[in-house]
Amino acid sequence: MSLKAQINDNRLPKHIAIIMDGNGRWAKKQGMARAFGHENGAKAVRQVVEGCAELGVENLTLYAFSTENWNRPKLEVQTLMRLLISSLKKEIKTLQDNHIKLCTIGNLSTLPSKVHKELVDVMEKTKLNTRMTLTIALSYGSREELVSVIKEISIKVKNNIISPENIDESIINEHLYTRNLPDVDLLVRTSGEQRISNFLLWQIAYAELYFTNTLWPDFSKEDLYYAIIEYQKRERRFGKTSEQIS
Ligand code: FPP
Repeated sequence: MSLKAQINDNRLPKHIAIIMDGNGRWAKKQGMARAFGHENGAKAVRQVVEGCAELGVENLTLYAFSTENWNRPKLEVQTLMRLLISSLKKEIKTLQDNHIKLCTIGNLSTLPSKVHKELVDVMEKTKLNTRMTLTIALSYGSREELVSVIKEISIKVKNNIISPENIDESIINEHLYTRNLPDVDLLVRTSGEQRISNFLLWQIAYAELYFTNTLWPDFSKEDLYYAIIEYQKRERRFGKTSEQIS
């Protein structure tokens, strides 16, 4: 039986989030500059977006650039930004053809204006697509997101729009950058690192974590299928007992 055929369509994760890691090491292994790794990382993005859309996964969130990534050498940051613009320009048709909506999370105001403009344009053009939501985390940090949630709620409390005793998990959810997305079901990190690195800390509370040694540019549809098959083997209890679940 093919790998894809081993996936149970009735138990697909509704939301997959991926920490794409290992572009630099992949390039180094071939004696190439880091930029080559990022370029091939963009090809892996295409594979995974296509793979998720074909399977019927409704939400895919990719960690493309963290708030900490601004500290990388200027040339590498420029390469990543250029790659983002060219990928967006190249993939808009694929997004439209496959009815995929593009969203972003993160502090977009810190991005170069060209990137910002291209993103806004693609988000506007794809906003009515409903088959899948592809969210790119850009200049994103989970702690920064939580600080912005607390600030927004505090202002509403100050202006008597929310009373402190009514603050609950759903109010916090409504103020997250991911307010329109369900919780993450499956979090994947490539390249052998087993860290969360400030990604979606609130949203992964009950996510299944899947770590693979595959470097991101090598991550293929088959690797995506392996991750989903492993996810489907796990028993998600959400704090209940096994007996309660069955
Ligand atoms: C991590 O590898 C990867 C990144 C910081 C960037 C991810 C960006 C892409 C895959 C390119 C395009 C993105 C889109 C959405 C089209 P690393 O550089 O940290 O690798 P290393 O740990 O081996 O050095």
